[in-house]
Amino acid sequence: MNKEKIREKIIKSLKWRYATKVFDSSKIVSEDDINTILESARLSPSSIGIEMWKFIVVKNKELREKLREVSYNQPQITDASYLIVIAQRTDAVENMTKERMERTAKILNAEEDSLVGLKTMLEGSITQKSSDGSLDSWIKSQTYIPLGIMLETAALLDIDACPMEGFLPEKVDEILGLKDKNLKSSTMLTVGYRGVDKMSEYPKVRREFDDAIEFI
Ligand SMILES: Cc1cc2nc3c(=O)[nH]c(=O)nc-3n(C[C@H](O)[C@H](O)[C@H](O)COP(=O)(O)O)c2cc1C
Repeated sequence: MNKEKIREKIIKSLKWRYATKVFDSSKIVSEDDINTILESARLSPSSIGIEMWKFIVVKNKELREKLREVSYNQPQITDASYLIVIAQRTDAVENMTKERMERTAKILNAEEDSLVGLKTMLEGSITQKSSDGSLDSWIKSQTYIPLGIMLETAALLDIDACPMEGFLPEKVDEILGLKDKNLKSSTMLTVGYRGVDKMSEYPKVRREFDDAIEFI
């Protein structure tokens, strides 16, 4: 595919995508496609590479019914092919630095002692963000990156999705038993194929290019 075609495909897909409210539950996203969407989440960047997230694919129908009840009865939760809950880790103080160091040393085949700069940065961030109270929101903000990347991946594959934060997080955590896993829900993504929905034909409501973007 040449560059011109890639540009066209990206913009066309992003104009085609919309936050799908009505899914056709009889049309199922293939395993290869959902795995590609999830892999794009796994490959997402995060601040200092902390990856303090977990992508929980809820396959159990009863759980999805329960989650719908605490998500303002939004039908996407049960009708889409897949429901992905993006959870943030709550054990950063205990485990973030240790895990990041071990992961990096293993993958780069390096001694942890040679990664002293990274360790200083990780410890500095934890100390600063713990003391100014921003640790939790810093970690939560990272979860929106894979959310966005999955939305784009899905659109490029001509697959519909709805990003969602219209749910009661404490209830979701309770239903999925997240607290015991040192997790809490941040946001969700439903993935599937659109059903008959007038909204899919509405033009995109967006600020003008020159209003949203400034070159200085
Ligand atoms: C973080 C986030 C949370 C959202 N939560 C919901 C939701 O709970 N339910 C819903 O129907 N749409 C939800 N939306 C969709 C937005 O309303 C939608 O993206 C926005 O109005 C722009 O429309 P479009 O995505 O269809 O172009 C959410 C979007 C984002 C980015």
